[in-house]
Amino acid sequence: MMRRVTTIAETRAALAGLRRGGRTVGLVPTMGALHDGHLSLVRASRDRCDVTVVSVFVNPTQFGPGEDLDSYPRDLDADAALLESAGADLLFAPDASEMYAEGAETRVEPGSISTVLCGASRPGHFAGVATVVVKLLGITLPDFAFFGEKDYQQLKVIERVVRDLDMPVRVMGCPIVRDEDGLALSSRNRYLNAGERVSARVLSRALRRLCERIARGEIDACELTRALADEVSGEPGVRLEYAAIVDAETLAPLGRLTSPGRALVAARVGRTRLIDNVAVGPVPAKADAAVVPLSWRSPA
Ligand code: PAF
Repeated sequence: MMRRVTTIAETRAALAGLRRGGRTVGLVPTMGALHDGHLSLVRASRDRCDVTVVSVFVNPTQFGPGEDLDSYPRDLDADAALLESAGADLLFAPDASEMYAEGAETRVEPGSISTVLCGASRPGHFAGVATVVVKLLGITLPDFAFFGEKDYQQLKVIERVVRDLDMPVRVMGCPIVRDEDGLALSSRNRYLNAGERVSARVLSRALRRLCERIARGEIDACELTRALADEVSGEPGVRLEYAAIVDAETLAPLGRLTSPGRALVAARVGRTRLIDNVAVGPVPAKADAAVVPLSWRSPA
């Protein structure tokens, strides 16, 4: 039976009991409006950890002026029902005054990795994300934390913050979950009307075509980026924000696809901002089997 709590104190007390006997804890941070992508993170946590805690918090500090903070979909009861059936153990759903105490001023400011791509058009966004994620890690002290690769830059920013701040948690990136027509699942897909939903397919289609060109041997990243940008911006009703092929870790632009890279796109479909991405170039060696938990606790 999943427990539902709203305060930091309740969360800490519940987790102190749940992790007794050395049980490992997985954290899945979310902003709610859950879909199968989020549930795949819960499954990944359950596969790897003894206890899964999910946070649902629409974090105001990562929204800029004029963004969709007020209209962001919220349905905590529906989220709780999904999490219960997915087998989560604890749902932490604080309100903003619980997460940001009166007078709190400290912010986590990630470095240059947070100012490119989405960070260029959403100034302060990744500082908001990093701050709330560091707080959630401090509240739940998980062994593993799970994030979707759909928000690829967010994943890389969080990996960087955790590394730079020596936080004893393993950050786990999980594959994008897509609808049958290729559209990457996102809580914001709910904003799309039927026509926009069709136009939105261009993001995944253009990324798929890009992969086909790469499979045929093309490695000029500038040429490939231009083709990606042309295809997305050629779709009626779609306004390209950026198309880029970057180093998979540093997010610096790549000239030639001779090392692991990531192709990313962001575009507005009507008023909805959508993002998508895919791995490109040589596949990096997978060290996953060797992943062992770190621990906030002192060694036994
Ligand atoms: O990806 C999200 O849903 C949010 O950015 C996160 C990581 C929960 C922080 O608010």
